[in-house]
Amino acid sequence: MNSYGTFSERGYEIFSATLLSPLRELRQGLFEQVRRMVSYHGESEEEFFNGFHRYGLTGAELNRVRLAAVNYFTQTKAAREIFRAVEEPLVRLLGPDIAVQKTCNVVVQQPGDTDQAPIHRDAPSNSHFELIAWIPLVDVYKTKGMFVLNREHSSRALAKLKRGESFQDFCAYTKEHSEPIEVSFGSVCLIQSGLAHGVPLNEESQTRWSLNVRFKNLFSPYGDKGLGDFFEVLQLSPLSKIAFEFSRQEFEPFEP
Ligand SMILES: [Fe+2]
Repeated sequence: MNSYGTFSERGYEIFSATLLSPLRELRQGLFEQVRRMVSYHGESEEEFFNGFHRYGLTGAELNRVRLAAVNYFTQTKAAREIFRAVEEPLVRLLGPDIAVQKTCNVVVQQPGDTDQAPIHRDAPSNSHFELIAWIPLVDVYKTKGMFVLNREHSSRALAKLKRGESFQDFCAYTKEHSEPIEVSFGSVCLIQSGLAHGVPLNEESQTRWSLNVRFKNLFSPYGDKGLGDFFEVLQLSPLSKIAFEFSRQEFEPFEP
């Protein structure tokens, strides 16, 4: 347990990677990809990512970098690597049969960038039976990070909406009561999909690079994003492996 409390209390929790090498390798690979795009000749990943705003990329240029990053993480099956880094808490929270989002989302939040995702909850539309894994690639603090409204306050915020209060009231409540996620590289924040969350205006002097990807129990209810189109099987329990083999055989046509 850390100062943020446990997952059951808060609906989210920050976990230190039990295996740091997958996160290190992902960041190093991204560094090699992106440094070429902007002709960075230094060797420090921290300096490069934190200082990325010095290249002044916006709009289509910035999007080109972001898409290259998404492609890189898709090709390297980054979600599976992230699973290796925090396998213990993920299996504890989800059980052994796990589905994972096929692609990783990449966010580059430069200082003063007003292009931020609005305050929202992933569920509904996504299922409530999902965990958002939020993985900073640089140390985040204060407004360089994100904020999450814990379980109790998210429930109160939802009650406001159900009473007919406006979305603006919902956002104001979220901003007032949410907690900033301040973590070092090497930690992963796991967030239940019904919690309200958002991104402050980055008022620090460093750029934030972060990934987010969703994990769920394979047999849990799905929302708008289903198995096959959005999620894929990550791992099966010993029983599920045998069960799927038999199930397949039951439906195979008989060949004498
Ligand atoms: Fe979200």
